[in-house]
Amino acid sequence: MNFRDELNKRVSYIETIIKEYLPEETGYQKRIYEAMNYSIMAGGKRLRPMLMLETYRLFGGYEEEKIRPFLTAMEMIHTYSLVHDDLPAMDNDEYRRGRKTTHVVFGEAMGILAGDGLLNYAFETACLALKGDSYDDLRRAAAAFSILAQKAGIYGMIGGQVVDMEGFGTLTESHLNLNSNIKGITLTEPHKDHNTILDKLNYMYKLKTGALIEASMMIGAVLAGAGEEDIAVVEQMASDIGLAFQIQDDILDVTSTTEVIGKPAHSDEKNNKVTYVTLLGINKAKEKVEALSERGLAAFQTLNKENEFLQELIIELINRKK
Ligand code: IPE
Ligand code: IPE
Ligand code: MG
Ligand code: MG
Ligand code: MG
Repeated sequence: MNFRDELNKRVSYIETIIKEYLPEETGYQKRIYEAMNYSIMAGGKRLRPMLMLETYRLFGGYEEEKIRPFLTAMEMIHTYSLVHDDLPAMDNDEYRRGRKTTHVVFGEAMGILAGDGLLNYAFETACLALKGDSYDDLRRAAAAFSILAQKAGIYGMIGGQVVDMEGFGTLTESHLNLNSNIKGITLTEPHKDHNTILDKLNYMYKLKTGALIEASMMIGAVLAGAGEEDIAVVEQMASDIGLAFQIQDDILDVTSTTEVIGKPAHSDEKNNKVTYVTLLGINKAKEKVEALSERGLAAFQTLNKENEFLQELIIELINRKK
């Protein structure tokens, strides 16, 4: 298996599916359709739909028309979260997926509305999966719908964004990472609040990033008919992958460039964000990404199911460059 080829194949497959559901750009409100399509078709790794599809296949799912509305809905919700995350009131970033952010091109009001539009349209799209006439299919689609709603909401992604926006109060250099030299101060003792801050940071990441990754993999499993126990394993594994993914995002914010990641590097620093990197330093953050990914992979093994591509994908995420 050539991993890169397989990855590209999946990205184009997913994009073909997404396109089928996008609104046509006509009518008095066509500006919102344009803004929605602009943001969702800008590219992006399509990681969440990919994880959903591969988890569906892992559990023997083969009727892919049944998962299509959910693949699309997930990418719509993820894209809306990015459009809103970039708004001036939030991270105030001007690049995303290698182009100007939606609010920069379409104006702030349309940025807000396009995000709202994507969120709502995600559920309109997912509803298309609730049309089947077999009882099992309906039951599975309803369970998937419920996971999607919860993990995207105040107990999931939105909740995490709230904690992110509230921040950590006034932190001084002494809260920051051990053994690193910040503004000339080298710390040797952890600050007494270090663990409390780390707890809150983990909680925030589990929600703001972990929740949609959990939902993606769980929906794949549910639609393929996986049992309760396996779904619980999938949730835990996805949670580890999600946390690792966000820590790697923090690392790239510091170590990469705008050209490579397609969004502004040093955005966290600009916004004085407390991140894994500011708290633990790059090396410890990298170790954590590896440890979490390995724990996720170990959970994968306990399922006793084969999906070589999915396994490779999880390994790839450890060293991802964008
Ligand atoms: C960005 O997600 C937001 C985070 C949760 C770190 P991705 O890195 O998956 O962004 P795209 O979809 O590839 O643009
Ligand atoms: C955002 O985290 C996670 C979301 C739910 C959008 P970040 O603010 O770190 O994501 P990027 O770096 O802008 O993609
Ligand atoms: Mg943010
Ligand atoms: Mg951001
Ligand atoms: Mg980031």
